[in-house]
Amino acid sequence: MTASSLTVTDNRTGKSYEIPITNGAIRAMDLRQMRTGPEDFGLLAYDPAFTNTASCISRITEIDGDRGILRYRGYPIEELAERSNYLEVAYLILNGELPTIAQMDEWVYEVTHHTWVHENVKKFMDGFHHDAHAMGMLCSAVAALSTFYPEAKNGGDPGTRKLQIVRLVAKMPTLAAFAYRHSLGMPYAYPDNDLSYTGNFLNMLFKTTEVKYQPNATLERALEVLFILHADHEQNCSTNAVRSVGSSQVDPYCALAGGVAALYGPLHGGANEAVLRMLAEIGSKDHVPAFIKEVKSGKDKLMGFGHRVYKNYDPRATIIKRMADEVFEVTRPNPLLPIALELERIALQDDYFVSRKLYPNVDFYSGLIYQAMGFPVEMFPVLFAIPRTSGWLAQWQEMRNDPEQKIARPRQLYLGAGKRSYVEIGKRDEESGTDG
Ligand code: CMC
Repeated sequence: MTASSLTVTDNRTGKSYEIPITNGAIRAMDLRQMRTGPEDFGLLAYDPAFTNTASCISRITEIDGDRGILRYRGYPIEELAERSNYLEVAYLILNGELPTIAQMDEWVYEVTHHTWVHENVKKFMDGFHHDAHAMGMLCSAVAALSTFYPEAKNGGDPGTRKLQIVRLVAKMPTLAAFAYRHSLGMPYAYPDNDLSYTGNFLNMLFKTTEVKYQPNATLERALEVLFILHADHEQNCSTNAVRSVGSSQVDPYCALAGGVAALYGPLHGGANEAVLRMLAEIGSKDHVPAFIKEVKSGKDKLMGFGHRVYKNYDPRATIIKRMADEVFEVTRPNPLLPIALELERIALQDDYFVSRKLYPNVDFYSGLIYQAMGFPVEMFPVLFAIPRTSGWLAQWQEMRNDPEQKIARPRQLYLGAGKRSYVEIGKRDEESGTDG
């Protein structure tokens, strides 16, 4: 018997099994040998929402939820947010190492020179309703890119794969900015290759009559930091969607459209939008205790609080909270900030939140900054999707290179009706739908 193993006795049969433990996990397939007889399919692990299932081996992002640690390829998020920039972090996430000067120059050149989109993109963007949600437009536009690059289907070829990665990282801000301008009825602003990744994004969003758009340096840097913080977060809902859709070997545009769709939901990337709506609804600091009471009674949720993995303060929230003051010096303080601070103060003293280990997550303060920078709430999840593109692509690439990965196909526990015979419509019982 090896020290790193689990001995299990199946009390249905009295048989004992030794199951190896590797990297702190057993292989779910090792349970299959436990059967009650030849007709038995074998034991399954039941894990709705994958709360205790490792679906892959990954070397990209490490999270220690109890200690509030987040690292990309081993580098602490605090150091990257302080010293790096988004494109360097994207390179790191995608390639495993920080780039040399030459590698960085080439990467920045490639991304900068793929920011333009086919003119037809403007045509289908124009087809969206005037009040279409920016995330719906982004999701559809990313999927539509697949039709412009049919060679992307050849995901097994490393050269083709690399080109699609560059295209997606480069074009995502352009699609997002076009969606934003469409919702305002403004003409689309084309990319400016002289500007940084975030500077150009601000240009495509906010440029009006000026000949050359000059981004505000503080806001450009703030966006850079927010993008770094959102670049990857291991096997979250949208990343799992990208891996799952991508496991069918569809092209990466369609796989990422699945990721954008998953991110849109209010429990995931839509939470920052929900936080702002919640703060606006609370309306004033004085109403905070009453709102907390509603949350504790189960009538409401404190959006921007809680996390499946972090059971301590989300390290990204700490960085964002610190950065908020710098941004508010340039913009104006967000009038909703005092409500957010009061919510946090009261919640962190309340046993309901403390006992459930509910702390502010990345979305609690990010929306306040985005709003102060002039973004409408509908753009908040879009501002999450742009930087998460590098993470999704890194995870997609890792999945495609992993010989152990196959098409994602979970099992189910079937508890529905047993075999029964079809009953003609006129002969069905009103209530049960069966022959009465
Ligand atoms: N407000 C009030 N109660 C909460 C909250 C909250 N935000 N989050 C969790 N709880 C309670 C929940 O009701 C449950 O209580 P009980 O044990 O009495 O039933 C307990 O805490 C455990 O919660 P859970 O729902 O089992 O936890 P989960 O891991 O399934 O959900 C979560 C994680 C992030 C979906 C959830 O905390 C949540 O809905 N938070 C609000 C939405 C949000 O801020 N999402 C952004 C997440 S971070 C960025 C991202 O992923 O995009």
